[in-house]
Parts: sequence; C-alpha cells; structure tokens
Amino acid sequence: MNRDYKRLETAMRDNAERTEEALTRLCACEDDDIGLIFDAERYSLLGGGKRVRPFIVNQVCRMLGGSAEQSMPLACAVEMIHCYSLIHDDLPCMDDDDVRRGKPSNHKAFGYANALLAGDALLTNAFLTVSEAQTLSAEKKAEAVRLIAKGAGDCGMIGGQVMDLIGETEELEIEKLLRLHTLKTGALIKCCARLGCLAAGYYPNSDEAKKLSLYAEKIGVAFLVVDDVLDEIADEKELGKNVGSDAGHNKTTFLTHYTVNEAMQYARELTESAVAAIADMNDNGLLVDLAYYLLDRKN
Ligand code: IPE
Ligand code: IPE
Ligand code: MG
Ligand code: MG
Ligand code: MG
Repeated sequence: MNRDYKRLETAMRDNAERTEEALTRLCACEDDDIGLIFDAERYSLLGGGKRVRPFIVNQVCRMLGGSAEQSMPLACAVEMIHCYSLIHDDLPCMDDDDVRRGKPSNHKAFGYANALLAGDALLTNAFLTVSEAQTLSAEKKAEAVRLIAKGAGDCGMIGGQVMDLIGETEELEIEKLLRLHTLKTGALIKCCARLGCLAAGYYPNSDEAKKLSLYAEKIGVAFLVVDDVLDEIADEKELGKNVGSDAGHNKTTFLTHYTVNEAMQYARELTESAVAAIADMNDNGLLVDLAYYLLDRKN
C-alpha cells in the first residue's frame, strides 16, 4: 500500500526549520579564541539530517495538548546528543566513515582531536540546554536530565555502541542483536517520546507515556533494521553516508541472520506493533504516518 506522506512531510519540514533556528541560537559563539570548536559543532549540528528525534519530542508534546515551544529545548538537547554520537561513531577508532549527511565527516573536516572535542561539547551542551530551558519547571528539568542520561548512557545508547563493536569480532545471536538495536537506537528514540510526554505534563509512569514509549522503542528498533538494510543496498549519494560500512567491518547486523526481504518484513511487523501501541490515542495521525515513513525511507 502506498501511503500519502504529504501532511507528515510538511510537519517534519516545519519542525526541522524551527529546530534548526533554535539550535543556531544555542550554538552561537562570539569568542574568537574558542571559535574553532563552535565551528566544528555547528558543522555537524546544522548540517542536515532528517531531524526525526526532535520531531518525535515535539509531536508527542503537541499530541498531548502541549506546544512545541515548551518541548523545543528538550528536542534540541536530544539532537545535540544524536549529533555527538554520529561524530564519534564515524571516528577511525569506531566505524571509520568519511561521509556523513552528504559531506565529509567531522574528523575529515576538523581533524580527530577537534571532532572528539566537538562531540564532547555537544554532549555537555545538551545538559546545559535542559538546565537553562525557560519553558520548563525545575522539577521537569531534573526529570529530563535523568531521562536523557538514561537513554544516552551506558545502559542505553552507549551500551548499544559497545555491543555493536563486540559484534565485529564475534557473531551475535539474534536475541543479542535485538538487544543491541534496542539499546543503540531504541533507547534514545524512546527517550524522545518520554521527553515530549514530560513537557506536556505526563511523567513516565502515566498510561500515555507508557504507550508512547512502547511505540517509540519499537520504531527505534525498526529504524535500525532498516539502517542495516540501507547500509547494504542504498545509493550512497541518496543515503548521504558510506554504503557497505557494516560489511567492511564484519559487523553483526540483521543481514547476518536474514535476507533483505526477511529483515524488511521484520521491520514491518515491528512498525505495526508500534502503531498498535498508540492506536487508541487521540491525534495519533502524524505519529502513525511517521512509523510507516521511516520504514519506507531511502536515507
Ligand atoms: C543515523 O541516524 C544513526 C542511527 C542511529 C542509525 P539518522 O538516520 O537519524 O541520521 P540523521 O540524523 O538523519 O543524519
Ligand atoms: C550508530 O549506528 C548509532 C549511534 C551513533 C548511536 P550506525 O553506525 O549503524 O549508524 P550509521 O549507519 O553510521 O549512521
Ligand atoms: Mg556504528
Ligand atoms: Mg556508523
Ligand atoms: Mg548503520
């Protein structure tokens, strides 16, 4: 079935523009002595990308009756964390990739040391951004810091990166690979849904947050299954990053265990269960569309 994504694409474009405006303000620097590190941060932070994570934060907040203004600092914080993770992920000691978002990776443009520092700075600035958010109460900011640290830290995204590297030297069983995907991408995407809920006043133990967390975790895993497939079959120009990187590192991915068609079928089932998790919620249209859109993407 061919879905019509026009409404979603307009909403995503609009959200991406507003997010980039906010990120530009948050990453401004007038101090020449340290201008270089801001240049390196801005190079990756403002250099394209689908902006899926900020969209989820803001759309979840809107769907629950809040406004994107309220959740925008949290959306920006997550995008900073995501960009830092991409800069470090491309370094020679990790995936050693030289193209990202259609241009040279950060370390190709600024050198290894500056790329490392730019990633460190973005990670740190994410927490600064939450702490300084004027749209959120002190209690919500404290909870947001906890949620981000949990999603991005060693029991979340970093744990997934560690398993990803282990999967280069030993073949991971399918259960382990699923855990890897759940941590590497599912954890931060789940965090996005929780942050959107929080901004709208729904804490993680609410029914709304539980349903949206489940939705987000499942689309997060599906997202990475599709990422594994694209790494093998996409057009490098359209993808905007190196193709064949996983195979080049002998990484365990979904294609170690499944054919492309089987992997895509698995991603489709995950997407359907994600959609089922929010099926009875009001105003769920854009999030339902997003789940299928991410499945059908080419980059
Ligand atoms: C790429 O994420 C890294 C993974 C977690 C698979 P995205 O596909 O969201 O990258 P951008 O932000 O659009 O560049
Ligand atoms: C990276 O996963 C995920 C994080 C940065 C946490 P990948 O290594 O598969 O991402 P790409 O394919 O380089 O974007
Ligand atoms: Mg990687
Ligand atoms: Mg990589
Ligand atoms: Mg990949």
